Amino acid sequence: MFLRPGERPTERRPIVTDDHQPVMVEEVLHFLSPRPGGVYVDATVGAGGHADAILRATGGRSTLVGIDRDPEALSRARYNLRSYGAAVKLAQSDFVDVGWVLGSHEIEQVDGILLDLGVSSMQLDVASRGFSFRGDGPLDMRMDPSGKLTAADVVNSYPEADLARILREYGEERFASRIARAIVDARRKGPLRTTTELSHLIEASYPHGPRRGHPARRTFQAIRIEVNRELDVLEATLRSAPDVLAPGGRIVVISYHSLEDRICKKVFASFEGRGQALPGLGAPKATGPLAVLTPNAVLPSETEVQRNSRASAARLRAVERRAA
Ligand SMILES: C[S@@+](CC[C@H](N)C(=O)[O-])C[C@H]1O[C@@H](n2cnc3c(N)ncnc32)[C@H](O)[C@@H]1O
Repeated sequence: MFLRPGERPTERRPIVTDDHQPVMVEEVLHFLSPRPGGVYVDATVGAGGHADAILRATGGRSTLVGIDRDPEALSRARYNLRSYGAAVKLAQSDFVDVGWVLGSHEIEQVDGILLDLGVSSMQLDVASRGFSFRGDGPLDMRMDPSGKLTAADVVNSYPEADLARILREYGEERFASRIARAIVDARRKGPLRTTTELSHLIEASYPHGPRRGHPARRTFQAIRIEVNRELDVLEATLRSAPDVLAPGGRIVVISYHSLEDRICKKVFASFEGRGQALPGLGAPKATGPLAVLTPNAVLPSETEVQRNSRASAARLRAVERRAA
């Protein structure tokens, strides 16, 4: 059902299927509270599922700036959101550069920003992107295919100690040292090239006994986070993004693992009224205090988790810019 890499969407070939629904849509709309005339940023627009829900909730009478660093995702979003015409402005960019994107559209303040973090199920489904330990593809894992660092670079060139640290920190992998050692031993015979090679290697180095999930899951997550600098850009973005919020504007973040959620919780808790200036936009315009709307992370409903297994790890947090 999905487009192959490089393939362009056509009218006859649907892109979003029922098993790739956006996560926690009701909760996103509740916290973002989109209204006609508002300006919203979907900073991880993906295939445009959440963006569509936001635009639909305003009867198509709001502006939606959609950002993604994956050009393939953007071409899907462009197709899926085509009926909204000029209300949608799409940009291939890292969300850390949201200030530049807004500046290029002469937008100074927005009413809401959504971040639905991590990889999309579409990225995972295309084996040639190298994100999934279930498919056979090159060790790539770049969300932006023009990025310099690939998973193969990490696996084949990082010193053993760095590999172990990454697996421990970004994958919370108990057997990080053991897996790092196995990778370094294996690559002496020649570089590791495919997701299957890496996945088999991890399986073989894992201790026998009861397992929670596939042994390669945490290592793949860790390498993906390293390749895309996911945690660095998340913290920087959350610290600076409030400066473009209009009074009453909100930031909503959906995270999928405890590292992301911890950063979100920590940064939101640290807000004292204003963040740093956003590169590209000059001095902060908004001055009112920030209020955390979610004292505890909001979880998806049981019904949604039953319907969509990807939702099970989702955690939502939101913050609001109050009037000065
Ligand atoms: C979970 S998907 C979003 C799905 C989307 N909400 C939808 O409804 O289709 C996450 C998307 O964020 C993008 N992404 C992740 N980190 C990013 C970053 N730092 N800057 C821009 N896009 C990013 C990924 O390429 C991916 O397409």
